[in-house]
Amino acid sequence: MSKQPIGIFDSGVGGTSIFKEIHALLPNENTIYLADSVNAPYGSKGENKIIELSIKNTALLLDKGCKLIVVACNTATTNAISVLRAAYDIPIIGIEPAIKPAALQTQTKTIGILATKGTLSSALFHKTLDLYGHHITIVEQVGEGIVQLIESGKTQSPEMSELLRLYTKPMLEANIDYLVLGCTHYPYLIPELLEILPNHVKIIDSGQAVARQTKVILEKQELLNTITLKPKNEFYINIKNTEVMQSLLGDTFNVEYLMF
Ligand code: DGL
Repeated sequence: MSKQPIGIFDSGVGGTSIFKEIHALLPNENTIYLADSVNAPYGSKGENKIIELSIKNTALLLDKGCKLIVVACNTATTNAISVLRAAYDIPIIGIEPAIKPAALQTQTKTIGILATKGTLSSALFHKTLDLYGHHITIVEQVGEGIVQLIESGKTQSPEMSELLRLYTKPMLEANIDYLVLGCTHYPYLIPELLEILPNHVKIIDSGQAVARQTKVILEKQELLNTITLKPKNEFYINIKNTEVMQSLLGDTFNVEYLMF
C-alpha cells in the first residue's frame, strides 16, 4: 500500500503549488495530480456543484489506486471535505486559508484574506474565522478573475497587476501586516505581490503546512513510501492545452491530457 500514489486534485493548475511543497518534503512518494480545468473556476459555483466535482475527482484518484487524497483547493476543501471524509475510507487532507498563524502574529491587529467567493462564503471558513479571528480586523477580498487569468497563462500580465492593486488597496488602507493567500493558485502571484505590497506586509499561504500534515498522516498510518526507487509523478489536465500547467511545473514533469 505504501507504494501507492498520493492523489492530489484542484479545480485547475493552481494546486501544482501544493504538489511542489509535497514533493519537496516527500520526494520518494509517487503522486497523481488532477487539474479539473474544464470546470475552473470552482470559486463562483454553488456548494452542491463543488461537492459533485470534488467527489468525481476523488473517485477517479481512488480508481487509480491512491492511498491518500490531498484536496489542493481551498474552495473544494471548505465546501466538500466533510462529505468526502464521510464517503471515503482513506485519509483526506484539505487546505484552508492560514487565518490562525496570521491572527496570532499580527501586530496591527488587522489581516487581509484573498480567496474565492466559494471559500469566503463557506461554513467551514466562518467556523475558522470565529475560532481564530474574533479579536482582530479581517479584510476579506474575493479574488474575482484571478484564477481565470492564471488558467489562461496570464499570471504575469497588466490585467493581473491591475487586479492585484485593486484587491490589495482596501487592505493596505486598513493597515494590514499579513496577507493570507486563501487559494492554491495565488502562490504563483507572490513575485507580483512583493512588488505591490510594502515591505512590512508578510504573505502567508498554507502549502508547507499541508505538506507537513501529509507527512504526519502517512507516518501515523504507516503509509510512507520508504522504497527509494525513482518515484513516478503523473499530471493530468482535462483541457487539450497543457502548456500553462507545463510551464508552472517546469520540464522535470510531464503534463498529459486526460478526459474526465
Ligand atoms: N485553487 C482553488 C482554491 O484554492 C481555486 C478555486 C477556483 O477554481 O475558483 O480555491
